[in-house]
Amino acid sequence: MAIEILQTTAMPPAIQKVLDGSYTVHKLWEAKDKAAFLAEIAPRVRGMATSGGAGASRALIEALPKLEVISSFGVGYDAIDIDCARERGVTVTNTPDVLTECVADTAMALTLAMMRRIPQADQFVRTGRWPKDKFPLTDKLGGRIMGIVGAGRIGQAIAKRAEAFGLQIAYFGPRKKAELAWRYYDNLVAMAKDVDILMISCPGGKETNQLVNAAVIAALGPEGYLVNIARGSVVEEPALVQALVEKKLAGAGLDVFADEPNVPEALFKLDTVALAPHVGSGTHETRQAMGDLMLKNLEAWFAGKPVLTKVV
Ligand code: 8YV
Repeated sequence: MAIEILQTTAMPPAIQKVLDGSYTVHKLWEAKDKAAFLAEIAPRVRGMATSGGAGASRALIEALPKLEVISSFGVGYDAIDIDCARERGVTVTNTPDVLTECVADTAMALTLAMMRRIPQADQFVRTGRWPKDKFPLTDKLGGRIMGIVGAGRIGQAIAKRAEAFGLQIAYFGPRKKAELAWRYYDNLVAMAKDVDILMISCPGGKETNQLVNAAVIAALGPEGYLVNIARGSVVEEPALVQALVEKKLAGAGLDVFADEPNVPEALFKLDTVALAPHVGSGTHETRQAMGDLMLKNLEAWFAGKPVLTKVV
């Protein structure tokens, strides 16, 4: 008898194939009556395959009394109720490391797109304005200071790239890291005042909710830029939008939003922003690697071996 798992959201086809071949997979997102669907499978479900976006709420975890393991496709686990998993002795795994390089690439792509106005330049050419008009000059990237919120694996990979582009690095986080030579700030407003580009690369969740608030955005100021490849929840989004609309911020590069896939419409009219639909890790190679790790964690658990990348 195959082990029964609950899958909350669609996975890349190659990963889905392995899941379907290895387990009896119950696909929650396809169910019309989710409560009835869960009630029927609850006595048999021992594992869950989910993603950073879909997560696993307390209600979902509690609906599955036989649940042993949640294997998530994604490094961020802010959408998984970790307290509830811990209380119920459910092991949670994520997919760190394998996505670091691609997310850092996206961070730099957005930084360049935002500062050099690449999406707007593309539109300028496509809409036939080039023969009649001149594209405005933009701000130089090199020589500026990037302040990184969260110098973890991804933040450090971004810093490495940013240094190659001639930027100076500063960082803010819960503590100074002895191994990092960059200037450390324990006060985010103070860092925002001193830097040109605020790069958000910290985890989402309770601890960082609205960390980048109106005061931080005001401190960054009309010459300042903001890039977010972390979670929309880290930023006070209405304050960000207002600052951009009122030109109290020079620009933003955003891969993540407070209520994905809904993006504040006011941003669509601005030529100071570069927007992306949460594609930080979205390459063939990285999504495959994330899927493989998600599968390996499930496989290890059900083989009675230690999981590879445990959260709790
Ligand atoms: C994924 C992410 O796209 O890893 C994360 O935390 O946000 C992304 O890599 C996401 O997990 C898929 O929902």
